[in-house]
Amino acid sequence: MSEPVLVALRGASYAYEDGPAVLSGLDFEVRAGRALALLGRNGSGKTTLMRLLSGGLRPHSGQLTVEDRPVRYDRRGLTLLRTTVQLVVQDPDDQLFAASVFQDVSFGPLNLGLPDTEVRARVDEALTALDISALAERPTHLLSYGQRKRTAIAGAVAMRPRVLILDEPTAGLDPDGQERLIATLDGLRASGTTVVMATHDVDLALRWADDAALLTPSGAVTGPAEATLARTDLLEQAGLRLPWGIAVAGLLRAQGLLTSPAPGPRTAEELAATTSGHSAPPVPADN
Ligand SMILES: Nc1ncnc2c1ncn2[C@@H]1O[C@H](COP(=O)(O)OP(=O)(O)OP(=O)(O)O)[C@@H](O)[C@H]1O
Ligand SMILES: [Mg+2]
Repeated sequence: MSEPVLVALRGASYAYEDGPAVLSGLDFEVRAGRALALLGRNGSGKTTLMRLLSGGLRPHSGQLTVEDRPVRYDRRGLTLLRTTVQLVVQDPDDQLFAASVFQDVSFGPLNLGLPDTEVRARVDEALTALDISALAERPTHLLSYGQRKRTAIAGAVAMRPRVLILDEPTAGLDPDGQERLIATLDGLRASGTTVVMATHDVDLALRWADDAALLTPSGAVTGPAEATLARTDLLEQAGLRLPWGIAVAGLLRAQGLLTSPAPGPRTAEELAATTSGHSAPPVPADN
């Protein structure tokens, strides 16, 4: 993990009014170009952490930095932060407010004071990336849940952030909608956006992420997804189960069907490819 740190929290603590500390002394780094999955049990502070990273909340102690420079929480500093980091909240209804899809997606770029032609170019680009160009003039209140989710993501993408943070983006989507969203995020990654997502889906985290961060009571542990998601001690603390692919890789190794250093399968397709060199077990002959 030698990629430069884009955004980081150093020793960050946060508590909501009258509440106990949600995060205390937390160190957390987002590295350029590394797809990062954030996992942890309900109430562990994933959403709080994402709001700290995007400047919606301010740490009570510690620091948020962008490329090692501390973020300033005045208008200029926050505008600078918003062009670097964009958060898509879990519920699109908390994010969407304009009458039409086009108006909603153009709000951020308009607010940056960009000329109309630039705003239009960014909105077109974001709608294309999210595959919702046909919905541009549709009133937002008439959209389906999945369409509202895409519109909310397009609004963030139109800001051309370097880091796109998504809070449980696949929750509430059907399987095809999830696959389309992952393909969209892969497209954004390919064009240079660093993507961070909170998810409870360990299998998705294993197949999608370069790195996984597990939020436990003693802090965040971040490392390469395959190694981190195999740590049963951490998984237990984070209230998660072992990903399917890691369990299968363990079985394959025990059977001698996978050599130790080879990466394990993360999907059924990869499992088929892993085992295709081996002959199928003999079929019992009819007597
Ligand atoms: N606006 C708020 N006011 C007071 N307490 C809050 C607020 N938002 C969250 N909390 C508390 O902060 C803690 C962390 O919540 P947070 O939403 O960050 O967790 P999470 O990991 O995102 O959980 P989930 O998996 O359920 O989304 C919880 O105990 C929660 O009750
Ligand atoms: Mg949450």
